[in-house]
Amino acid sequence: MTGGNRGIGRAVAAETVRRGHRVTILARRPDEGAAAAKDTGADLVVGDLSSVRSVRQAVEKIAAAIRRIDVLVHNAAVWPSRRIINEDGFEQAFFVNHLAPFLMNHLLEERLGRVVQVSAGLYVSGKVDPDRTPTGEDFHSMRTYADTKLANLLMVALFAERWRASGVTIDAVHPGVLRTGLGDPGGVRGLALKTVKRLWKPAEEAAPPVVDLLVSEGTGRYFNRSKEAR
Ligand SMILES: NC(=O)c1ccc[n+]([C@@H]2O[C@H](COP(=O)([O-])OP(=O)(O)OC[C@H]3O[C@@H](n4cnc5c(N)ncnc54)[C@H](OP(=O)(O)O)[C@@H]3O)[C@@H](O)[C@H]2O)c1
Repeated sequence: MTGGNRGIGRAVAAETVRRGHRVTILARRPDEGAAAAKDTGADLVVGDLSSVRSVRQAVEKIAAAIRRIDVLVHNAAVWPSRRIINEDGFEQAFFVNHLAPFLMNHLLEERLGRVVQVSAGLYVSGKVDPDRTPTGEDFHSMRTYADTKLANLLMVALFAERWRASGVTIDAVHPGVLRTGLGDPGGVRGLALKTVKRLWKPAEEAAPPVVDLLVSEGTGRYFNRSKEAR
């Protein structure tokens, strides 16, 4: 479970452990990761998903810790407030949200049983431009986030096809609109956003439908919470 130290990832990790499964969370900050692992009953691998180099390092640690990954959950994501370019020349959100899962799927595929990609209903606003979005030339805080989530869904269909013969399955899910730290720009705007989010449901609401999907069978599907959607 990437991004298991807070928000939806943490809630899903806790619910998955509660249902009797063994969970490993990947978190980039050791202290926060350790605290979340302790609270949820999960194991911890420390790793960052912000560049090709760091994803490869994280994958090495995951592979050393886990021989067989029954379900890999790509949950970590950022909602960017400004254009940041990573050391590979990619826009940060495009890399973390889309290219990191893409690379992990390839690097770990020999060990995988199933993959669940956390996407978002906002994919409908996405208009990924393969020439400009990866480097953020068309950067726009909300559109870029939506682009990454659309890219997630397009990737699911491709991996479902790639893995059809080997039996590895992959589905995607929109977990609902929930009160988490996603997109918090800090400062006054952050405070305003927090006020709006008070009306939203807590992250724990996401857990039951997402965990149901982790343990379900099928491939190439997209779920809006528990309802299969196009
Ligand atoms: N909240 C919603 O309403 C909503 C709606 C639809 C879809 N989603 C999706 O649900 C998923 C979880 O979102 P959330 O709302 O729980 O967000 P969140 O509270 O902001 O959590 C994001 C997680 O991603 C991790 N992360 C970000 N960059 C990373 C990196 N470079 N390396 C490793 N981990 C990194 C964060 O770690 P740090 O703590 O170290 O930053 C954190 O654990 C995302 O895929 C999001 O798109 C959320």
